[in-house]
Amino acid sequence: MSNDEKILELRNKLEKAKLGGGEKRISKQHESGKKTARERIEMLLDPGSFTELGTFVEHRCHDFGMEKNKFLGDGVITGYGTINGRRVCIFAQDFTVFGGSLGEMHAKKICSIMDLALKTGVPIIGINDSGGARIQEGIDSLNGYGEIFRRNTMASGVIPQIAVIMGPCAGGAVYSPGLMDFIFMVEKTSQMFITGPQVIKAATGEEISYEELGGAVVHSRESGVAHFRAENEQRCFELLKTLLTYLPDNNSSFPETIEYSDNKKLILEDLNKIIPSDPNRSYDVKEIIKAVVDDKTFFEIQSEYAANIVIGFARINGKVVGIVANQPRKLAGCLDIDSADKSARFVRFCDAFNIPLLTFVDTPGFLPGTRQEHGGIIRHGAKLLYAYSEATVPKITVVLRKAYGGAYLAMCSKSLGADQVFAWPTAEIAVMGPEGAANIIFRKEISEAEDPESVRKEKINQYREIFANPYIAAARGYVDQVIEPQYTRKVIIKALESLATKKESRPSKKHGNIPL
Ligand code: HXC
Repeated sequence: MSNDEKILELRNKLEKAKLGGGEKRISKQHESGKKTARERIEMLLDPGSFTELGTFVEHRCHDFGMEKNKFLGDGVITGYGTINGRRVCIFAQDFTVFGGSLGEMHAKKICSIMDLALKTGVPIIGINDSGGARIQEGIDSLNGYGEIFRRNTMASGVIPQIAVIMGPCAGGAVYSPGLMDFIFMVEKTSQMFITGPQVIKAATGEEISYEELGGAVVHSRESGVAHFRAENEQRCFELLKTLLTYLPDNNSSFPETIEYSDNKKLILEDLNKIIPSDPNRSYDVKEIIKAVVDDKTFFEIQSEYAANIVIGFARINGKVVGIVANQPRKLAGCLDIDSADKSARFVRFCDAFNIPLLTFVDTPGFLPGTRQEHGGIIRHGAKLLYAYSEATVPKITVVLRKAYGGAYLAMCSKSLGADQVFAWPTAEIAVMGPEGAANIIFRKEISEAEDPESVRKEKINQYREIFANPYIAAARGYVDQVIEPQYTRKVIIKALESLATKKESRPSKKHGNIPL
């Protein structure tokens, strides 16, 4: 073969590789409302920035006639490129090749690009569209999953890991995303499940569709597995690009600070009127968040799951912060199992990636009830205590209204290591709410009174007058300053500036044992 012929051969092979599982399967992919793996990479990365690796990898399976059924790349496209100039490593499973299923060599390619991401300290993005373990390759495909899971774990807290689900993800295909930091799903075309509808029917007799079992809506609202859902692939990538702007490349760098030039007012008069005078009336804490942060920078995560707590990124004077806030609109802002899980994981992400934490508190306590107690609220609530206590990034807390009991402590109190705690004059910081407290400490007077109800009311009011304010906590230094709500943005900007050089260390250990 002449050199020219060799070059031609290479070109032909590269052309062939682009066809994945062939034209027919590509058309099927398009008909089902999905893009191909290559099209997805093209949509997501900066034009011309993608460098592909491992194009010539093929499987080594000889069973079930597989030796005659080979595709260049083995069903996954891997490489690196940039997104808005930021370097990332990426893999995209190709559903047109054995349904994107994962065999030995397919897994090796994913491991190899994950290794590169970890060595070079850049985020890894995985686009998943896969029928799970490649059944023909048996235990080799299982081993491949194990290798990926181990790498996901090694990379956790070192580089951001982002999973995008763009098709069915069955069996082993869900656990690598499950180990990553953020999961995006696309409505109607993506599902995640460990065992599919047929197996469920055989095992339990229950009939359920793919979408009801593991669609984007279910995982965004019910299970909390997904962090974001989008109406289509294009929108999904737009969301991912926005997320990336809040993340650093790795755990030894910081998210980009942007020069903030919108001249947003530092004094926000409306905030002085936002808390209703009736303590039992709710308001939307997102209005407070949006007022305080730089305009249009609040980027909420898991907005539909455990909505009694709000988490997300934002910028304040151009600097990225992670926000955790009780939402009085849902369950009165109580902490429960799901909200504790949701917020604890977010706190740990922020701490791992040098993102300061800003916590807004308005919670009457942990949600009472046997479902919570028997579901392990002790274990789950402890995650939040642990996550905040462990975090060494700057921690700023603003108590807006209720901050009672264990929930007060859990929401980044001074005792868990908050660096600066501010309280609005509307704050009520006490061991428990006035109703509960009065019923316990004045039980005898109330039950023996001629008119127990009026005595109860009187005692509740008495307790409220004495304890439901920020000044007792401020007198003991649990609150650093009581501030007018309108000055909150200004105060937080200064607090963030003062804490920018914060250094705090923890006792050296192999790792802690967070209650899981
Ligand atoms: C090999 C697979 C495959 C698999 C799909 N294909 N899944 N090949 N191994 N796991 C192939 C099909 O044979 C078909 O090949 C092509 O991919 C497209 O599949 P279809 O079924 O035609 O597509 P669709 O109707 O869209 O259904 C997609 C699907 C379904 C929902 C993913 O294929 C499915 O249910 N697959 C099995 C899912 C599953 O049970 N996986 C668990 C594996 S065990 P042709 O040649 O016709 O194009 C596992 C355990 C690991 O993962 C545990 C680790 C912790």
